[in-house]
Amino acid sequence: MSTEYMKSNGFYEQVEKTGVVPVVVLEKVEDAVPMANALVAGGLPAAEVTFRTAAAADCIHEMAEKCPDILVGAGTVVNLEQCKKAVDAGAKFIVSPGYDMAIIDWCLEHEVNLIPGGVTPAELTTLINLGFDITKFFPANLYGGLKAIEALAAVFVGHRFMPTGGVSPDNVRDFLGSKAILAAGGTWMVKPNLFADGDFSRVEALTADAAAAVREIRG
Ligand code: 3PG
Repeated sequence: MSTEYMKSNGFYEQVEKTGVVPVVVLEKVEDAVPMANALVAGGLPAAEVTFRTAAAADCIHEMAEKCPDILVGAGTVVNLEQCKKAVDAGAKFIVSPGYDMAIIDWCLEHEVNLIPGGVTPAELTTLINLGFDITKFFPANLYGGLKAIEALAAVFVGHRFMPTGGVSPDNVRDFLGSKAILAAGGTWMVKPNLFADGDFSRVEALTADAAAAVREIRG
């Protein structure tokens, strides 16, 4: 089994081009489509829908069925059951805060895009030896932020990271400016309080600001 499919199917390119992946926590299925539409309209056509709520799989299904322009994936996937549920629902990628061999084996066997997480040199050694060129770095702010990522990237030459946890409008440009970063992830543009009244215009506006930061730094 190999990770080659992930390097040639355009997944990494799509994530890199998006630059900032919104990490979405949705409690209600009816919020899924308006959320996806706001992200697409704002200029970040990707969503990592986290398995922290009971509605996650149904939200992924709604987005995958009704919003062809969004790259919808599942986040906070910590066991194989969630992983299978997410893929059944239509998730195009899986993100984990850490890594689990059952998830890795199944994703490789079924050619499912996977970004596992690692923060220590030991974890990265394992993931790189399994063939992963891109890993999640979470919680980025607590594990040393960009300084830690760049120190790791100097050792694990060519490896790139998707930091989440503490990425914000104040520091996202720093992350995006580093060659070691494929894309950053975060919740600041999709916080539940922004759309509690069913109005997604604030989500769209903050998404547009984040997309502008991507363009500013990456062109
Ligand atoms: C994640 O799931 O990646 C993090 O919870 C995102 O962290 P943030 O809320 O600090 O953006």
